[in-house]
Amino acid sequence: MKYAISAATGHFGQIAIRELLKEVSASDAIAIVRNVDKAKKVLPEGIEIRQADYTDKGALIKALTGVDKLLFISSVPGGDVSRETQHQNVVEAAKEDGVEYLAYTSFADADNAKSALSSDHKFTEKIIKESGMKYSFLRNAWYLENEMSYLKAGAAGEDAVYAAGDGKIGFALEREYAVGAAKVMTLDSAKNVYEFGGKPVTYAELGQAVKEVTGKQFEFKSVSDAEYRQNLIDSGFDEMTADIFVGMQDMMRDGELDVASTDLPDVLGHELTPLTDAVKEVLNR
Ligand SMILES: NC(=O)c1ccc[n+]([C@@H]2O[C@H](COP(=O)([O-])OP(=O)(O)OC[C@H]3O[C@@H](n4cnc5c(N)ncnc54)[C@H](OP(=O)(O)O)[C@@H]3O)[C@@H](O)[C@H]2O)c1
Repeated sequence: MKYAISAATGHFGQIAIRELLKEVSASDAIAIVRNVDKAKKVLPEGIEIRQADYTDKGALIKALTGVDKLLFISSVPGGDVSRETQHQNVVEAAKEDGVEYLAYTSFADADNAKSALSSDHKFTEKIIKESGMKYSFLRNAWYLENEMSYLKAGAAGEDAVYAAGDGKIGFALEREYAVGAAKVMTLDSAKNVYEFGGKPVTYAELGQAVKEVTGKQFEFKSVSDAEYRQNLIDSGFDEMTADIFVGMQDMMRDGELDVASTDLPDVLGHELTPLTDAVKEVLNR
């Protein structure tokens, strides 16, 4: 059985590969990367490295030859070639190569999500389903690491604003999602859908956790979209980036990342890192 992980040089991929190698021998594991030099530096020795950019379907067809199971890590949005096209290339190449099973890092509750950030993932889930390959959707909620600016502000005793209101977010550490993904890859009968994430909490509760960890006094203040946007612009963000961040806060306020599920601890075989410990871990990196 040959296992491949694509986008393997990213933070997620590197952790997933190391976890996979606990279960399968290095000779059965393949890293698919767009930058071979980087892969040689950051990936464990002994693993086969194959080059393919998601924008290059021909290279993907070559790289996926002989692969039985693929952990397909989603691309980064905002490239010259749309993420939809990149993902379509991966799915079509996998199908053409006879890949049996594909686990795809998707979006929380993708069936019902409406945000801009979810649309590429919804599209990708659809084409994977239509492809006829066996699949698992690893619907990752939100990496705690995404909130680094809030964690750092709190740790410095500085106030910060947010527009997500009482929206709850299922934070977990990126490494927990990545280990979960690798574990799903080695299951004999994986489920079609995993809703991965931590116990959903509000920004106010996240702030409380940062206070507990740091002993600092500060305020994470709930404000309107307009005030939040202005605050970003005053801090030096351009209008387009500010609008993207506002969209993410709206997505959180609308509850898109509020998915209560035990899928992640169930797959990991243990409880997730408690929020205060997770905050400590991220701040200590
Ligand atoms: N749920 C969440 O909270 C959340 C948060 C952040 C990201 N994500 C998603 O999770 C994925 C993995 O996260 P991460 O932390 O590992 O991100 P990362 O560290 O930025 O790594 C992204 C990976 O994607 C690869 N990549 C980008 N464009 C590519 C292309 N055109 N063809 C092939 N590979 C390409 C990168 O290759 P190089 O190493 O060569 O740059 C890298 O390996 C992200 O790509 C994103 O879709 C989810």
